[in-house]
Amino acid sequence: MERKDTYYKKARKENYRSRASFKLLEIQSKFNIIYQNDHVLEFGSSPGGWTQVVQQFTEEPVIAVDITPMDPIKDVVFIKGDINNPGLKEKIIVAMNSLGINAISTVLSDAMVKTSGNYDRDHYNSYLLCDSVMRISIDLLSSGGNVVLKQFQGDSTIEFVDKWKNNFHFYKVTKPKASRQHSREVYIIFKDKV
Ligand SMILES: C[S@@+](CC[C@H](N)C(=O)[O-])C[C@H]1O[C@@H](n2cnc3c(N)ncnc32)[C@H](O)[C@@H]1O
Repeated sequence: MERKDTYYKKARKENYRSRASFKLLEIQSKFNIIYQNDHVLEFGSSPGGWTQVVQQFTEEPVIAVDITPMDPIKDVVFIKGDINNPGLKEKIIVAMNSLGINAISTVLSDAMVKTSGNYDRDHYNSYLLCDSVMRISIDLLSSGGNVVLKQFQGDSTIEFVDKWKNNFHFYKVTKPKASRQHSREVYIIFKDKV
């Protein structure tokens, strides 16, 4: 509870839309996943805390996707859509074309299924969501590109990493300090697409 209050207050004070911003700041400072001219595609963006952080590191427009509406942010193309909807990829490609973007440099997903309290079910649904993000993104991602995905950790997390790791030169599963201690969430980092 103490930690929640600390990051919540810090977010209010520093004008971030959510406490989640501090998780991405930690990941960025440790793994350098976003560079100045990167084209970032973000899933699970609402209310926009990560988007604000992304804009601190790249000057390029951001494409942000969420099933929940997001208040506008300058230079952000927001797509209201469901990661599980087969039509979403086409909408992302239309947005990329409208911005003159040929390839995505960095894919971020802080998307999380509504948890039910059933550990196995929540883990499995989160696994499926991450898998959908990867299937949408892998061929939009440039060579050398990076991916960060939130996953509710469980038995299949290793299987997930094994499934996708050969597409990248580096991978790591990490848990930022800003994640609530009792939470099962982890972040999977894939860097430097082959
Ligand atoms: C933890 S919040 C993201 C917080 C955000 N990164 C920030 O910093 O403000 C998780 C988000 O995932 C979104 N989400 C969950 N399932 C989704 C799906 N199937 N498709 C798109 N977005 C989804 C939710 O609507 C929610 O806004």
